[in-house]
Amino acid sequence: MSIILGIESSCDETGIAIVKDGRQVLANEVASQIDIHKVFGGVVPEIASREHTKVIYQLVDKVITEADVEIDAIAATQGPGLMGALLVGFSFAKALAYAWKKPFVPVHHIEGHLFSVFLGEEAPTFPFLALIVSGGHTQLIRCDAPHHYDILATTRDDAVGESFDKVARLLDLPYPGGPSIQKAAAEGNPEAFDFPRAMRAKNKTGFSYSGLKTAVLYAMQEGECNPADVAASFQAAAIDILIIKTRQMLAQTGLKHLVVAGGVAANALLRERLQNDLDVKVYLPPFKYCIDNGAMIAAAADSRLAHGLVGTMSSTPNPGLKLEG
Ligand SMILES: Nc1ncnc2c1ncn2[C@@H]1O[C@H](COP(=O)(O)OP(=O)(O)OP(=O)(O)O)[C@@H](O)[C@H]1O
Ligand SMILES: [Mg+2]
Repeated sequence: MSIILGIESSCDETGIAIVKDGRQVLANEVASQIDIHKVFGGVVPEIASREHTKVIYQLVDKVITEADVEIDAIAATQGPGLMGALLVGFSFAKALAYAWKKPFVPVHHIEGHLFSVFLGEEAPTFPFLALIVSGGHTQLIRCDAPHHYDILATTRDDAVGESFDKVARLLDLPYPGGPSIQKAAAEGNPEAFDFPRAMRAKNKTGFSYSGLKTAVLYAMQEGECNPADVAASFQAAAIDILIIKTRQMLAQTGLKHLVVAGGVAANALLRERLQNDLDVKVYLPPFKYCIDNGAMIAAAADSRLAHGLVGTMSSTPNPGLKLEG
């Protein structure tokens, strides 16, 4: 149980936070680069690194001033992510740990998303099944104890968040696609198009989202269609398959607790269906901690520190870091 400064810089958000006991956020700042990358239609790695460098000092200074507490350890995202972007936060965190003579805790980005759920009102209890739904990951993970992960299912191609982003681009909706599609879908008919639910059979493990994106493209090429109907039908299919595969995995494992995290966990339809269609206790992060932030990194680091899982000054970022444990 401690007070941790968490730094997230794996992609296009500089997230800095101070969290007490892995649950209570004392200060939280996020500088988003979305407007800068928007004009390029995606994140430009070199620009991302430069922007992190520009803002990191001020943001760290701001949270330290705001929380006004003694820090016990410094944590940063080790990977996966963009190397240049990771290096900014990781090196900054190591330098602080060295100067303050405090432990340095490297954190896997997806473990961070998973621990964002501990920032909610009620903390999940182990064991649980975790559904990770983000821009780069769609996974079902069995978690029997803190930092013990068994990846049971993953996507064969696109991640669910990525498919929202790609379909939004087809529909000429602004980046990031998730919130734009959700907004457009509110005015459309989710049954206007019967888009495929890939991998729905019980004997198929994993997810696949590239066929859904292609089905949307073909529907749009076939003739005039209402963009709101396309958005609503796409969203219905994308969320439906998450519910189908999660339900199957819950039945297979017998687990009674479900943790859902990552940017797509902000989706209103997903939240509604998780509550209505699954017969287990569901834990979700507060909305503001669904997308990348420093608080989730600090929350994961609190538990890592308690389990003696700390880094050293020779730890390095790893863009292809695997979730192990
Ligand atoms: N309301 C929403 N509905 C659906 N998707 C959403 C919503 N809000 C955000 N997203 C999606 O969440 C993704 C961003 O989430 P997140 O920050 O977790 O991803 P990432 O950090 O880019 O990827 P990863 O965590 O896998 O490295 C984007 O793909 C975005 O479109
Ligand atoms: Mg993320």
